[in-house]
Amino acid sequence: MTQPNLSMKRTLGTCYYPEHWPEDIWEEDARQMAELGLTWVRIGEFAWSRLEPSQGQFNFEWLDRAFDTLHRYGLKVVLGTPTATPPKWVCDKYPDMFARDLQGNLRKFGSRRHYCFSHLGYREQCRDIVTRLAERYGAHPALGAWQTDNEYGCHDTTLSYSDAARSGFQKWLANKYGNDISKLNAAWGNVFWSMEYAGYPEIDLPNLTATEANPAHWLEFRRYTSDQVVAFNRLQCDIIRKYSNAPISHNYMGRITDFDHFKVGADLDIATWDSYPIGFLADRAGASEGKQRHFMRQGDPDFQAFHHDLYRSVGKGRWWIMEQQPGPVNWAPVNPDPLPGMVRLWTWEAFAHGAETVAYFRWRQAPFAQEQMHAGILRPDSAKATAYYEAAQVAEELLQSPTTDCELADVAILFDYDADFSWAALNHVKDGDYFELIFDHYRALRRLGINIDILPASHRNFANYRCIIVPGLMHMDADLLSCLENSDALVIYGPATHSRTETLRISHPLPPNLSNLDVTVARIDTTRGDMPIPLSNGGHALRYREVLEGTATPILTDQQGGAIAVQNGSSVYLGAYLQDETLIQFYNHLLTETNIETLQLPQGLRKRVTKTEEFWFNYDCETMDTPHGTLEPAGVLRVPRKS
Ligand code: GAL
Repeated sequence: MTQPNLSMKRTLGTCYYPEHWPEDIWEEDARQMAELGLTWVRIGEFAWSRLEPSQGQFNFEWLDRAFDTLHRYGLKVVLGTPTATPPKWVCDKYPDMFARDLQGNLRKFGSRRHYCFSHLGYREQCRDIVTRLAERYGAHPALGAWQTDNEYGCHDTTLSYSDAARSGFQKWLANKYGNDISKLNAAWGNVFWSMEYAGYPEIDLPNLTATEANPAHWLEFRRYTSDQVVAFNRLQCDIIRKYSNAPISHNYMGRITDFDHFKVGADLDIATWDSYPIGFLADRAGASEGKQRHFMRQGDPDFQAFHHDLYRSVGKGRWWIMEQQPGPVNWAPVNPDPLPGMVRLWTWEAFAHGAETVAYFRWRQAPFAQEQMHAGILRPDSAKATAYYEAAQVAEELLQSPTTDCELADVAILFDYDADFSWAALNHVKDGDYFELIFDHYRALRRLGINIDILPASHRNFANYRCIIVPGLMHMDADLLSCLENSDALVIYGPATHSRTETLRISHPLPPNLSNLDVTVARIDTTRGDMPIPLSNGGHALRYREVLEGTATPILTDQQGGAIAVQNGSSVYLGAYLQDETLIQFYNHLLTETNIETLQLPQGLRKRVTKTEEFWFNYDCETMDTPHGTLEPAGVLRVPRKS
């Protein structure tokens, strides 16, 4: 990862929709935002029908006035391009621009994100509106940053099985494999089940086959789809940069792996993400029922931190929260009120992980349409909601601690979107996808109280790290492998690391084929989630276990003495999913051996260290003990570090 900006000013913001409100209250809104201590206001990202009500009929005057009003109060604007919400006339112009879902059903007009990334006509339409916005606001004194589109991947809209996607995929494959289709047939193993093609126009999308499609077919389709998101985003960035020097961002989501965020991020200046801790607990964090009950009003204690660390890396050091949950949301299976203090805790946790800005979604709760049950900083009647007071407290605290000062961690985990595509394509482990595997490892490390960096598989400079963890990276390029094998750090591979070629064939010699470790995966044993495999140290492996052969020293074994993990010097291979406590003890042993100091934190208490401060966060509903005194539920403790 690029060295994070070590001293960025910490600021607050909000998401505002002037087009939702009578113009005569904009002034008072802006005054109150400034009074609250906000710096940033994101606007515009869904306003296409008001900016261009019909083709070529532009109406920017209201947005000019909104810019000017915010500017008068010293607020800085993040301008969103409105391409997540193509209005009706655009859809009528391109009736085939809608995405199709896995079953081939067409998405309809009437909500948002109904476009297919592959549709070139829609891309051209986006070019037009983005150009107009960039020309008009690119140098506006109130403009502080851009946001492209809104939440690529939201509502499961990245993968599309449309005609546009099919023809785009065929061209993409032809470009990759060249004129000779036999290369593709050989690489995918299409002799199996007589799946050989005579030319690219014969290749369909991998959905709706009688039984599973070839995993290589799926993997290439996932890569193709990801590249369309990159191209769609790049088109907008290229236009914006012609007219504006303001940094460009995109607001990513939690647990969305449908496209390679590192590749999209390469075209952006800032990564932002939308953090809805309580919504995600039931929806995405993979928390057990018991955990969901325990953390119902706080959210998962690690899910936000994981994404903070991921997006710090995607943003090459620069990242924000663009949408912070301010109270109950409207879209999760249940939408509880946060425990008092949680909005402040989430905000400080983001700053502790290096966020420059935390912006609350949204300024005022809307009394109409889909999100009328979603809290804001203000209630629909403009009275202050709970989040107002917690944001005000943070704004006050920031006066004493104005800068963010992240530092590199000792321990890094590699996270790779292509590996996620591969796991999904092979679909071999029930209830255990790649994200979950990585998140299990991350959670275990957090319980040991350490800072973690999340790095892309393209990372090469590991000199600062004392431990590098590489779970599930099925395809690893030779250069990365040699960097890891030559690094002085403790490197922990597996499960499934270095097990497949670029087109998902089992590697030969058999995996993991590491030069520092004599270990071979002889076969794979996947088991029911309620049938854990007991280990000799009292712990358990779960759901997925590789049968390991070779002479490397076992450091974790099953009760019959079969190796679960093996080690040779600073190389370790782990051949299983481990239960949470077992994984924590596995890492505790290895990190302690590497002289990395660990703690054993209770399930609701977390620690994060910056250059200048030690932060403690209490996600629990009980008071917790820390080495610096007790911490009430939703409490944040900040202890200056001695230099
Ligand atoms: C986000 C989205 C916002 C709003 C919000 C509600 O996913 O970007 O526009 O819908 O969720 O929580």
